[in-house]
Amino acid sequence: MAFFASSTRDVPPTTAVPRHVAIIMDGNGRWAKKRLLPRFAGHHRGVETVRATVKTCLERGIGFLTLFAFSSENWRRPQEEVSLLMQLFVRALKQEVSKLARNGVRLRVVGDLSRFEPELQALIRASERRTADNSRLILTVAANYGGRWDIIQAINRMLSSDPQRSGEWSESDLAPHLAMSYAPEPDLFIRTGGEQRISNFLLWQLAYSELYFTDVLWPEFDAAAFDGALAWYQHRERRFGRTSEQLLDNLPDTASAKDPRIDA
Ligand code: IPE
Ligand code: IPE
Ligand code: MG
Repeated sequence: MAFFASSTRDVPPTTAVPRHVAIIMDGNGRWAKKRLLPRFAGHHRGVETVRATVKTCLERGIGFLTLFAFSSENWRRPQEEVSLLMQLFVRALKQEVSKLARNGVRLRVVGDLSRFEPELQALIRASERRTADNSRLILTVAANYGGRWDIIQAINRMLSSDPQRSGEWSESDLAPHLAMSYAPEPDLFIRTGGEQRISNFLLWQLAYSELYFTDVLWPEFDAAAFDGALAWYQHRERRFGRTSEQLLDNLPDTASAKDPRIDA
């Protein structure tokens, strides 16, 4: 399993094309409402945007794409919508997995999967296995995912990894237990649909991500809109705590971000 540097402990490499893009795909319901269609029509249409977004990532050489498909709070929606979303998830997995496999995409699903029907859990595992040898693009779907769930499950796994240990634990002890420890932290976070909030997505991992919010509704977030976000990203100055002058003059960091007390 790959281990990537933590943005609060080391300055990660910055590249013109983000290595990892994480997206909150929001606005399906409003897209449908505008057209006097049932909300579900928006979700259905949203799957097409997923397809187009994966294609753009492959074309642009983005290595990791993470999509928030269903949050741990989305169970609060009307039962009918939840059930239709689950059916859509099943259908999309069945329809798309061979195409993903052919295109070098590795599918991973993160979240508390235990709440899903056993059939859906089995389908998820089978789809992951089927694409497990691919590495051109790692497509992560966050399903019944919550940032707080992730941190708590990581703490529990960290503590049980060494029950005898009595000293303090550090960031780097926790990080390998997070659900997406196989991926670098997102360079670019995108939320469509106009809201400017994180909605319990990747709380830990977004520490130094560039945050891009757009009013475009997810079903209308086409390749041009995605390219707009990528162009915006290219103009960010990612300082990771340092000054602009240090970056412009290529000056060395004066101190490591590492706190010697934490990792002693
Ligand atoms: C996002 O679109 C998809 C999911 C949360 C599953 P919404 O369904 O939240 O769409 P709006 O926000 O109501 O428009
Ligand atoms: C966030 O969207 C979750 C997903 C896109 C899966 P929501 O539409 O559920 O977020 P809130 O509730 O408006 O913050
Ligand atoms: Mg929404």
